[in-house]
Amino acid sequence: MTPVNRLRPRRSCLAVPGSNPRFLEKAQGLPADQVFLDLEDACAPLVKEKARHMIVEALNEGDWSGKTRVVRVNDWTTHWTYRDVITVVEGAGPNLDCVMLPKVQDAEQVAALDLLLTQIEKTMGFEVGRIGIEAQIENARGLVNVDAIAASSPRLETIVFGPADFMASINMRTLVVGEQPAGYGADAYHYILMRILMAARAHDLQAIDGPYLQVRNPDGFREVAGRAAALGFDGKWVLHPDQVGIANELFSPTQEDYDHAELILDAYEYCTSEAGGFKGSAMLGDEMIDEASRKMALVIAGKGRAAGM
Ligand code: GLV
Ligand code: MG
Repeated sequence: MTPVNRLRPRRSCLAVPGSNPRFLEKAQGLPADQVFLDLEDACAPLVKEKARHMIVEALNEGDWSGKTRVVRVNDWTTHWTYRDVITVVEGAGPNLDCVMLPKVQDAEQVAALDLLLTQIEKTMGFEVGRIGIEAQIENARGLVNVDAIAASSPRLETIVFGPADFMASINMRTLVVGEQPAGYGADAYHYILMRILMAARAHDLQAIDGPYLQVRNPDGFREVAGRAAALGFDGKWVLHPDQVGIANELFSPTQEDYDHAELILDAYEYCTSEAGGFKGSAMLGDEMIDEASRKMALVIAGKGRAAGM
């Protein structure tokens, strides 16, 4: 089995309706780390079949260089999923990096997709195991099963929060996705985001925050995305070109943090070397650094290096 790549940059994950040729074209020119061509909720039922073929053509003929290429299929409770997967993966497998599975409720749903992908790869002579899976958590059942879901397949690369469906599924009293419901007085998303983040990190997966639908409110997007970035999420969905740059900025370290992280790594490497006297800790200015500091610095430096800093 070819291992999947869990280190792909995903600061900005651009949603592209699979049935819209203009958006399929335009998305190629935007600086998003990832695009996902959507067969699910951004695609009306009557055009889903046609959209499968449009997506195959766009993947095979478009210029997606520098981007992770993902297709979101419909969830297993519909009758569309298997044909979505078969048409898209048979038609464009070598030009596809991941399949996103929405509304995942248990580990078996991911395992079923894994099996189907393996059969298609073997039949078509594609590299077996190369195509990754992204699992969206969008309802209470998915969240209570998120640990098992995170452990369900070696193809899994990320757990993705789907706030719109999630809020509907738990009857949260708001219509503005990403905003706080009035009358609660604390962060209504904190538990959900942390739960997803812990499950993802426990299984070395990425954690991605979902959409912010007020596309003409960059300040609102900045605030919501900033919260997910501060917690440790790897990226966020973007629905509009104006959100791409903000996500790329927020999910990269600041230059100052990045430079500081590289300094910590250099100082720690020196102090633990023979020249530095094989010490386990050292002073960097007024700050004491040790192995745990190295690990924290590596996270920031890793994100900065991935962002080309
Ligand atoms: C995304 O799919 C969401 O439901 O928020
Ligand atoms: Mg959804």
